[in-house]
Amino acid sequence: MKDNIEYDSLIIAATKMRDAAYAPYSHFTVGAALLGKDGKIYTGCNIENAAYPVGICAERTAFSKAISERCRAFEALAVVGAPEDKEGSDICAPCGMCRQFIREFCGDDFPVVLARISGDGDITERRVYRFGDLLPESFGAGSME
Ligand code: THU
Repeated sequence: MKDNIEYDSLIIAATKMRDAAYAPYSHFTVGAALLGKDGKIYTGCNIENAAYPVGICAERTAFSKAISERCRAFEALAVVGAPEDKEGSDICAPCGMCRQFIREFCGDDFPVVLARISGDGDITERRVYRFGDLLPESFGAGSME
C-alpha cells in the first residue's frame, strides 16, 4: 500500500466524510479514512459536544467504526481537515490523543497520509508519515510487561 493512487482514494474518501462532521463549536471539520486489511474503507468525522471534552476526533471515529465491525488490522489512514467555510482542506495532523489511540492497533510502519485539497477538489499536497515518527518512544501493552 505504497502507491500514491491507492492513497489518493483514501484521501478522497476522507474529504467526502468531512461533510458529515458535527463541529458547531470549533467550526473546524475533519474527515478520516482508514483502509482495513479486510479491504474495506472505514471513514469517520469529528463529532463535537456542548461539554467540549466529550467530543471525538475523526480518526477515533473511523477506528471505532472499524473495530466495532471486527476489523483490527489496518493498511493506512488518511486525514484532511480545515475550517468549515474554507474551500478545500489543509494538512491536519492527528492530535496526541488520537496518536495514542492508533498506537493500540498499528505498528511503527503504519502509513498516515495527510493531504491538502484545493478549492477545486484537487490533491495539491500529499505527505506520507510513518506512524512511529508521529509517536516515537510510545507507551503500549508491551510497556507493562
Ligand atoms: N480534530 C480531529 O477530528 N482530528 C484531528 O486530527 C485534529 C482535531 C477535531 C477535534 C475538534 O472537533 C476540532 O477538530 C477542532 O480541534
